[in-house]
Amino acid sequence: MSSSTWLTLAVALISLLLARSVIDERIIRSKYKNVISVGPSGMFGTLIGTFQLLLGYRDFIQEGYEKHYGKLFRIPTLFTMTFVVTGHDLLEDVRKASDDQLSLYGSIKEGMQTDYTMEPHILDNPYHFRFVHLSLTRDLGGRFPELREEVITAFSELVPPTDDWTSFPAWLTGKSIVLRVTNKLFVGPPLCHDLDYNDINDTYSDALVKTALIVGLTPDFLKPIVASTLYFYIPKTLKRAMKHVAPLVQERLEKERTFGKDWPGKPNDLLSWLMEKAPESDKSVRAITIRLLATMFAAYRPASMALTQALFDLATYPSYIPELRAEIEPIVKEKGITKESINKMYKLDSFIKESLRLRGGGKSSMPRKVLKDFTFSDGNTVYTGSTIIATGYAIHHDARHYPDPDEFDGFRFARLREAENDPVRYQMVSVGPTYMMFGNGRHACPGRFLVSALLKTMLAHVLMTYDVKLEQDDGVRPPDKWFTFAPAPNETASLMFRKRANLA
Ligand code: HEM
Repeated sequence: MSSSTWLTLAVALISLLLARSVIDERIIRSKYKNVISVGPSGMFGTLIGTFQLLLGYRDFIQEGYEKHYGKLFRIPTLFTMTFVVTGHDLLEDVRKASDDQLSLYGSIKEGMQTDYTMEPHILDNPYHFRFVHLSLTRDLGGRFPELREEVITAFSELVPPTDDWTSFPAWLTGKSIVLRVTNKLFVGPPLCHDLDYNDINDTYSDALVKTALIVGLTPDFLKPIVASTLYFYIPKTLKRAMKHVAPLVQERLEKERTFGKDWPGKPNDLLSWLMEKAPESDKSVRAITIRLLATMFAAYRPASMALTQALFDLATYPSYIPELRAEIEPIVKEKGITKESINKMYKLDSFIKESLRLRGGGKSSMPRKVLKDFTFSDGNTVYTGSTIIATGYAIHHDARHYPDPDEFDGFRFARLREAENDPVRYQMVSVGPTYMMFGNGRHACPGRFLVSALLKTMLAHVLMTYDVKLEQDDGVRPPDKWFTFAPAPNETASLMFRKRANLA
């Protein structure tokens, strides 16, 4: 394209954004004049506010949370009205709302621009998520031994125990371990060990997030053009994935033809589940591969972040290590690492949960698209097409809920459990309005039982097998990296591992 065409396009785009901002202002004045508003107002308020928010100049979500706790407030966002819900009562309203009023899938569809980045209508029937609800969570006990074995082999291959301290890139290693273990449940061996296939899962997710961010900022009528310009990466990666998945599907279909539907040795994984349970129209290799990648997108990134952050915390606060080992060692000596034995490791559970609390939750969590006008218990109404969010990060850093909220207190939840003699309420998997890591209500993450078991198995294995420390001996934790509204672990820092000093 010539430079004059680019200039014309840029002028057209800016005019559109300005016009949209003026329309937003009209909507605010006619429908939302009684709702608290945080950030710039006036004709170009939503445009200015959106850029301030995205460029990190202003943190309207935290500002509003501090000034208007317990209330609903609006933040400036172009193209959709966004409202932040705070305080117990309003969060309860969201939790109790039906899916046809406030929709998680509607907000994922918009946030991930799935019509352009995945497959139109993929979230009209997200049957692939049902595998996590129906199969993975229910079978977790039965599948635990093979998961534990995969964790142990993954660590021994990717972090071979050495007598001297050896440095490993924390994020890359954490991601590789989680991808491999999760793919064991999704496609089984040998594909779960295939470096190219695991890399594809990672590349695909990365391409999705970046494409979705840009397409999301584009006016609707330009979206197909912008998406197709950026999109080249996604189909290329999808094709690479299909090359791995197609022969596996073929092999399983042949076995089914020869030995019948429940052929001996039939793997109990997401691929088999999709081949059997997907609607007939979605039985092509392409459709199956998209669902595999989409489920992995939901699973591996947050799980890898959680593992990497917990390892950083272990290395930054080594004073916890003796007490954690004192808890784990007798349990493992008696029974080994089993599903039952990790359930008894409540100090380890507390340590990981504290890491999740402090490092996770995101500024914009529990997003819901308003599909039908919705009136909160305080009388405020949000109208169809708007978006509501909670702010897990602010909740997790609120002294009303957590004394010294910015401090890492690894046994915070273990002490509460002991004091109240309540083995359930403070566990990592228990959700509620003050712990939003996994959302809340009927859509609370169904993968949390798996992820809690995996993280505990991984950390218990690390504590039993290795000594860990920060690469720099200055005790300073590698700083998080923020991607729009969510913190992520430092991607470049390394951790040092060696074979545990007194390990034979
Ligand atoms: C530490 C790791 C994880 C975190 C922090 C996390 C967090 C979340 C959150 C915040 C939600 C939305 C809840 C809501 O809005 O109410 C969610 C939903 C979901 N997560 Fe996770 N997740 C993790 C791991 C996983 C894993 C390992 C899987 C799959 C094996 C998974 C599968 C899902 C699915 C399928 C949904 C959609 C739920 C639905 O359809 O109602 N997640 N997760």
